[in-house]
Amino acid sequence: MPWTRRHLLTIEELSLAEIEQIHATAVAFKSTLTRSVKKVPALRGKTIVNLFLEPSTRTRLAFDMAAKRLSADVISLDGSSSSTTKGETLRDTAQNLQALQADMIVIRHAAAGSPLYLSRILNIPVINAGDGAHEHPTQGLLDTFTMKERLGCLRGRKVVILGDILFSRVARSNIHALTKMGAAVTLVGPSTLVPQWFTAMGVRVSHDLRGALADAEVVMLLRIQHERQAAGLFPSIGEYTSMFGLNKTRASWLNPKAIIMHPGPINRGVEIDSELADGDRSVILQQVTNGIAVRMAVLYLCAGGQPENVTPAPATETSRPAGAE
Ligand code: CP
Repeated sequence: MPWTRRHLLTIEELSLAEIEQIHATAVAFKSTLTRSVKKVPALRGKTIVNLFLEPSTRTRLAFDMAAKRLSADVISLDGSSSSTTKGETLRDTAQNLQALQADMIVIRHAAAGSPLYLSRILNIPVINAGDGAHEHPTQGLLDTFTMKERLGCLRGRKVVILGDILFSRVARSNIHALTKMGAAVTLVGPSTLVPQWFTAMGVRVSHDLRGALADAEVVMLLRIQHERQAAGLFPSIGEYTSMFGLNKTRASWLNPKAIIMHPGPINRGVEIDSELADGDRSVILQQVTNGIAVRMAVLYLCAGGQPENVTPAPATETSRPAGAE
């Protein structure tokens, strides 16, 4: 099946086959990341603009790294140094970037729907790097990619997502990806942050942390999104941690083979204790590394590349796997 999408806006709109195409393409690109010569020429001559109007460390740097590994030119613009601080609109900013001959825009914005809006007014591909509490599709893709690396096929696998689901774009993107891939997803947290209506997305909602952890093969922690939520959804951070923070005692309820994930940034000692974040079962830094390969796949495909042109690299320094000319 050829890849036909120009934009990556949500996981909700992707088919299972498209998710698998991105993952398969990322597998091939990942094989390039450990070579001494890490660049492939797939996007040589293209210019990608990272427009980050909300703070980011992992996503922005991984998109930056991914574009460079594909030999694209990369320009980054953040909110505090752009003319949005002087009142310029998102529309004007984006149209100026297109006029400056950008070939693709990666956008992070606090407003849900802003990537969709740009996709309708621009003639170039738009990639969503997180829009408000709506979606963070490349995070959902890299998280499920990491789970597949550790567990194989996700059909029937039991995944617990624990924390602030209500305000989490990461949770929404993971729910869409995981349910399409056949995983059994349970959301856990205080009822104010994990309301029952999430069951309409094909997941289970539970407030029984011990029971959910005992059953889990994957537990994904989410931080409290202070920047998005109103006060009063739980009494205090200390009480949240005492009820739902993952500590050594609660981790002992997990199956010994269960893996621990977190999209970052971590609030150590709040949603997860350091010894677990840094422990043997944690795949948190593997998630970060996989973010490069997955974003290489997304940039490559949305720029017009085809999955069948990407083959895993033989282990030689001169091989050129991805979009090789
Ligand atoms: N996971 C994630 O989106 O992290 P950043 O906010 O640092 O990009």
